[in-house]
Amino acid sequence: MYLPKSPRATFSQLRSFEAVARLGGVTKAAQALHLTQPTVSTQLRELRESLGVDLLVPAGRGVQLTDAGRALLQTVTRMFVNWSEFEDGVADLQGLLRGSLRIAGVTTTEYFLAQWLKPFVDAYPGIEVDLVIDNRDAVVRRLERGLDDLAVMMMPPNHLAIDSLTVMDNPLILIGPAGHPWQARKTTPLKQVAMVDLLMREAGSGTRQATLEFLGRHSLAARIRMTLGSNEAIKHAVAAGLGLAIVSRHTLAKNPEQEGLCVLPVTGLPIKRKWQAVWRQDRRLPRVARVFMEFVQRQLVFKAGDHGGIGISNALFHES
Ligand code: PGA
Repeated sequence: MYLPKSPRATFSQLRSFEAVARLGGVTKAAQALHLTQPTVSTQLRELRESLGVDLLVPAGRGVQLTDAGRALLQTVTRMFVNWSEFEDGVADLQGLLRGSLRIAGVTTTEYFLAQWLKPFVDAYPGIEVDLVIDNRDAVVRRLERGLDDLAVMMMPPNHLAIDSLTVMDNPLILIGPAGHPWQARKTTPLKQVAMVDLLMREAGSGTRQATLEFLGRHSLAARIRMTLGSNEAIKHAVAAGLGLAIVSRHTLAKNPEQEGLCVLPVTGLPIKRKWQAVWRQDRRLPRVARVFMEFVQRQLVFKAGDHGGIGISNALFHES
């Protein structure tokens, strides 16, 4: 087996060299490393002697790199990157992952994101989680501004280069007040949905957009009686008999009757959508977020039934 020669240079010498090269002088490097100037100078001299080549030459009040110095700086930088990856790996093995996870979820994800986060936060107590919940358009604006590491949404934007992972089914269903006459029917034709009063989420909501797009594809227009700013407001208004609504199945309790609601069977429904975790291609997914995604994939089998007895697998952890 090929064994590389172990270097004669020490880590301290390389650290001093890197700091002098980066900061342009011994004085600044000594300050940054909390060493005395003679210590840094000695380390540079010893390094030069062990390599047998000049690395730095005086220039004005500072120093300048020679060709050999530039090559060494590149090598040392690569070594330090490798080293910090190694340290990260060790910390990870010990469960010491630290930092923060910035995640934004569309409104409807508040019904399950906490369940995803709980085991991750338990496993990595050093992580601070910053979770923002807003509607689809607001989350897209946050993505544009690069405010979050990860976002979870049904309809990622087309105008940004993003990577994504499909994480869960998001069936959109029609709900009515418990005991609604359509509940007893085997099914109701879709065109009748366009003839009744509908309650709709606010402009900017992905649920609203998906609903209107779906009806539009069937050449139907919604008769919007009321616009409400949250899924819970919609549910209460439906239970109060103000109209019917199309919402994510995940917003409902396992037994919707408990909330004064029922799912109405309609031909063509549910609208079959999926949630995706997305992140910008031009911003490397930070390590904490990567670990979180791996954690979600590995650990979290979202059990059908935990959220309203949905009869489809919610553990759709495959690449989109
Ligand atoms: P929203 O969510 O209606 O809260 O914007 C839509 C989505 O699930 O992406």
